[in-house]
Amino acid sequence: MAVLDNWFIQVHDFIYVKEEEGSDAEAECILRLLGLRAGDRVLDAPSAAGRIAVRLARAGCHVTAVDINHDYLKRARARFQAEGLKGEFCQADLRRLPLREGFDAVCNWWSSFGYFSDAENLRVLRGMVAALRPGGRLIIEQPNRHFVLRRLRPVMTESDWVLLTNWNARTQRLESVWIHEEDGREERYPMSIRWYTWAQFRSLFRKAGLTLEAAYGDHDGSDYTPSSRRLIVVGRKG
Ligand SMILES: C[S@@+](CC[C@H](N)C(=O)[O-])C[C@H]1O[C@@H](n2cnc3c(N)ncnc32)[C@H](O)[C@@H]1O
Repeated sequence: MAVLDNWFIQVHDFIYVKEEEGSDAEAECILRLLGLRAGDRVLDAPSAAGRIAVRLARAGCHVTAVDINHDYLKRARARFQAEGLKGEFCQADLRRLPLREGFDAVCNWWSSFGYFSDAENLRVLRGMVAALRPGGRLIIEQPNRHFVLRRLRPVMTESDWVLLTNWNARTQRLESVWIHEEDGREERYPMSIRWYTWAQFRSLFRKAGLTLEAAYGDHDGSDYTPSSRRLIVVGRKG
């Protein structure tokens, strides 16, 4: 299957907006692994409806949330306002990130990398690096493909959703379709995500001007191993 054009624009909230449960621990993990302190400037890219951004802001970070979806940014802004927190909200396509130098950290969290072709994924990475100050750090969090692929079934279910999956070994992409019925109509949300390995991230980071500093295998900050549940990579600019 070729890389699906623009699948990432029309995705149901069920798939994109993670529940709040566990979010405190995830934000704590980001703060700890990046060594963030109150006053640090952090770019949350992409932020969805702001579940991580709002928590980083509560910890005193100056957060800019970026997402292509205007509605998600509106929801993120409302959360900040409800808590009296300050934040910046920027609607942008990650492939053309308009932000330059200055952030202490960029956070690309929860399976938000690899949506595009290999060349475009590198462009996304370079855009995030351009937004960092020299010495600033980037964190990317995603499923560990070695872990997931051992458990993957062609047909799986979650709540009232059916998930059809296919691992394309040639393109190294997980091609999937989420299906459910709404108001008597069947809705389908196709996805195609390139899952990079730890070693592939290291070479991608190098091309983008980052040094891979560390790889973790879960939100508790444990070291990455091939049997880890997640793959969390941290790179430093320059
Ligand atoms: C998995 S969600 C992000 C979750 C968020 N980081 C979190 O931890 O809750 C993926 C997000 O990517 C955004 N997105 C998809 N394609 C994009 C693009 N080309 N540019 C910017 N954002 C994009 C979606 O709108 C969605 O909010």
